[in-house]
Amino acid sequence: MIHLSAIEKSFGGLAVLKRVSVSVAEGTVTALIGPSGSGKSTLLRCVNLLEIPEAGRLTLGGEVLDFTGRPPARDAVRRIRRQTGMVFQNFQLFPHRTALGNVMESLLVVQKWPAPKARARALELLDKVGLAHKAEAWPLQLSGGQQQRVAIARALASSPRVLLCDEPTSALDPELAQEVVDVLARLAREGTTMMIATHDLRLAASVAHEAIMLDAGEVVEAGASAELFTTPRQARTRRFISTLTPDVSLAPSPARHETHEPGAA
Ligand SMILES: Nc1ncnc2c1ncn2[C@@H]1O[C@H](COP(=O)(O)OP(=O)(O)OP(=O)(O)O)[C@@H](O)[C@H]1O
Ligand SMILES: [Mg+2]
Repeated sequence: MIHLSAIEKSFGGLAVLKRVSVSVAEGTVTALIGPSGSGKSTLLRCVNLLEIPEAGRLTLGGEVLDFTGRPPARDAVRRIRRQTGMVFQNFQLFPHRTALGNVMESLLVVQKWPAPKARARALELLDKVGLAHKAEAWPLQLSGGQQQRVAIARALASSPRVLLCDEPTSALDPELAQEVVDVLARLAREGTTMMIATHDLRLAASVAHEAIMLDAGEVVEAGASAELFTTPRQARTRRFISTLTPDVSLAPSPARHETHEPGAA
């Protein structure tokens, strides 16, 4: 349901994504792993068009964008972007809005919902991430783990087809990271489609169904996360995984959402 096909992106002559093709089925979670600078964040940013690739094709829901030739029309970019939600490493909450205000913002401003409806939806989402009791708190009054859970609720507010998470736990101490892993695992069980760039193998192994190893802007290996983490086929993947902790061979592999049919696109 998300297809990236032969995506190319460069910055000032440096090729950062080299004909990258990736498919993500509805209701599944895909982990993007690979060394620093391998292109994980850039790939996520190409899905929500914060970066516009120079070549290749993106299919998301009913939208198909071909990047070869003219830059895509602004309307098409907006339609794609509205189907994505993004969670960043450093949360990026609006500091002058409460937790509730952060989650309501896009519903009020982009979707033009009336305030009572936006408020009800935002409270529901805060409850989903275990923070209904912090609705009136300011970002500075929240722990990092709580801020990230608000950021997740905010990203889900417009019911995106895909949640894009860029290193969602890497700014957090292990205990606070676990809160965020738990929330993402719950969303995965509920069938939320996600792409997660991460160095955190605990997150990747406990939440992702599929994994993609990137190196120097190329897909080195892709497949079921349980296999890729424990018995990688490529030497580059094996070397990379051996540099990470903890030992993922001990982690249980995540259950798939019950309505997901393996292989369905
Ligand atoms: N806006 C930009 N301008 C110039 N170069 C960029 C820009 N964004 C990324 N790059 C370069 O693109 C390459 C890939 O960066 P990217 O951030 O996608 O890597 P990453 O895999 O997410 O790394 P990390 O694990 O450190 O987050 C790097 O060489 C980076 O320096
Ligand atoms: Mg990155």
